[in-house]
Amino acid sequence: MAGAYVRGRRLREADVAAWMAAAAPYLPGPGGRILDLGAGTGRFTAALARATGATVIACEPSAAMRAVFPAGMPLIGGTAEHLPFAPAAVDAVWASQMLHHVRDLDAFARGIRHVLRPGGHLLLRGGFGPPEAMPLRRWFPDAFRDFGALLTDVTARLATLGVSRTARIQVSQRYAGSAAELVDKVATRSLSNLATLPDDVFDAGLHAVRRDAPRLGYPLDERLDLVVCVG
Ligand SMILES: C[S@@+](CC[C@H](N)C(=O)[O-])C[C@H]1O[C@@H](n2cnc3c(N)ncnc32)[C@H](O)[C@@H]1O
Repeated sequence: MAGAYVRGRRLREADVAAWMAAAAPYLPGPGGRILDLGAGTGRFTAALARATGATVIACEPSAAMRAVFPAGMPLIGGTAEHLPFAPAAVDAVWASQMLHHVRDLDAFARGIRHVLRPGGHLLLRGGFGPPEAMPLRRWFPDAFRDFGALLTDVTARLATLGVSRTARIQVSQRYAGSAAELVDKVATRSLSNLATLPDDVFDAGLHAVRRDAPRLGYPLDERLDLVVCVG
């Protein structure tokens, strides 16, 4: 699973750099502390450290994901709902494509309020636009939920605790540079939207991707959001 994630969710260095540039105004510099929440396989952890000079601590509940995490970076097991940190322990929380996994949004909001120092930033990275805008939706029409509603819900809960939404920035990133890359990435089934489909629905979608991929224009890019909240 974690191996498929690394292959299917890979990003070009230029795309990671674009995310770091968008996030930079809200992140601390050397001497600061950033929590990479739901860090997965560490896709952004080292980049956050390199871009800022801050100490980055990754927190990830899945043992399988932690097992392929790069060595040498602080990594602890834990969930957003039960964060194993002291109050006001970090200057910023980077939460990339993990919000839709959270079961208890009230506990998530309380955890953010607890761990973030006053005036610190929460950065929520994800696809919070309309599901129709997702590049894979044409082949998997039932796979993409409206994460915009989830964002509205969680930001309302955060606001009651004094963590207020201040910015929403869109960043473009490459999904696939060629037909072969498109098919390879989809076949990993590493997007949770695809992983939860019934097998026959996924197989039919993948068959259609293989059929259509050679006729598409490349690169195939997608736009995701960086939502910034200040606590
Ligand atoms: C789609 S992955 C994103 C990983 C990484 N942030 C990235 O952008 O590559 C979602 C991650 O959230 C983690 N996760 C699931 N439930 C969580 C929770 N309640 N609290 C924190 N992380 C959670 C999963 O184990 C998974 O590694």
